[in-house]
Amino acid sequence: MTVDRLLPTPEAHDLLDLTRELATRELAGKVDDFEARGEFPREVLRTLGRSGLLGLPYPEESGGAGQPYEVYVQVLELLAGTWLGIAEAVSVHTLSCLPVAFFGTEEQRKMLPDMLGGEMLGAFALSEPQGGSDAASLTTRAVLSGDHFVVNGTKAWITHGGQADFYNLFCRTGGPGPKGISCMLADAATPGLLPQQPERLMGLRSSAPAQIVLEEARVPRDRLVGAEGEGFAIAMKALDAGRLGIAACAVGLAQGALDHAVGYAREREQFGRPIGRFQGLGFMLADMGTQISAARALLLNAARLKDAGRPFSTEAAKAKLFATDVAMRVTTDAVQVLGGSGYVSDHPVERWFREAKVLQIVEGTNQIQRMVIARSLLG
Ligand code: CAA
Repeated sequence: MTVDRLLPTPEAHDLLDLTRELATRELAGKVDDFEARGEFPREVLRTLGRSGLLGLPYPEESGGAGQPYEVYVQVLELLAGTWLGIAEAVSVHTLSCLPVAFFGTEEQRKMLPDMLGGEMLGAFALSEPQGGSDAASLTTRAVLSGDHFVVNGTKAWITHGGQADFYNLFCRTGGPGPKGISCMLADAATPGLLPQQPERLMGLRSSAPAQIVLEEARVPRDRLVGAEGEGFAIAMKALDAGRLGIAACAVGLAQGALDHAVGYAREREQFGRPIGRFQGLGFMLADMGTQISAARALLLNAARLKDAGRPFSTEAAKAKLFATDVAMRVTTDAVQVLGGSGYVSDHPVERWFREAKVLQIVEGTNQIQRMVIARSLLG
């Protein structure tokens, strides 16, 4: 189904057309295979990088495409409608470039063209086995020794773990709490930076996260991003933007599921007519479509606030919360519309249903989003 979109420029129209074309040509024929094998699609990401899709919201002078978030999130949405693993990979990579782009030294920023062009894939290593939602409690320790930080600890649930070329490592360089955390940029080849086996996931198997064990890993001192102790604020700023990406993934996934369900409800006949003509199913489809439109409106509002340089954390949290809950409901209902056929892997709704769940968890569980929203209400 074509979504009627108000885009800010003719260039944005061209970009969305290009994304649709890439989704059809490069993603649609590969997704089932990669998901079934649990294989990470590095080459597909390189192709997207060469097409300019891995640095969309960054300035052109840094090697990005200079697009507003309003447009970037709609590109993600289109990718997610075909292959969530790819859309999530683009979103996490884009998030991983943010610390260097906005807080990096001049020397560090020289890496940006390769990062934003997709030659170097990024990862964001904040979470730990004992510190997921409570990010400020992280215990990975970095101790300065001469010209290097020596890092010890374990990072968990790291998207692109073992695949990335660079890691944003959030480590404790000072005392307890958020002010003791610093951000550093570590090369994948850093001795002592040891990716573990990928997790075995319910869905999103082509982009499985992995733990990263750090054993006396030596990160050059000049790879500190921002000031010492500024790491937590950098992580939160990156996640504010990242949550828009996850919301976009959710809207795209839900739209894909609705489109498939509508197609099925038009074709499938029972009791002598297409099942969509029964009010029970027609109303279900109507509710799915309405929820998706509402989620997209919240997302675009938050993205436009960010583009305007206005505070947007709370609106990003609302968009992430609402859109991912909508994706869960809509994919559940899509399975129901297809009945038994929805529960077998012949149709993608079975995969989308499994994939939607993870969006309610990553980049801040939906309970964390509610915490952010409640704090902004209560002060
Ligand atoms: N922007 C800038 N600064 C922020 C901020 C934001 N959005 N949110 C908080 N801060 C600052 C605060 O202002 C405060 O600084 P001051 O004392 O100078 O004012 C400092 O950070 C501490 O803030 P809080 O007291 O609010 O911190 P908290 O410990 O109560 O936690 C939280 C707040 C929102 C719950 C935060 O811990 C959080 O977002 N948790 C979820 C973490 C998360 O999303 N993890 C998933 C990571 S994704 C991943 O790792 C996988 C992957 O591959 C991408």
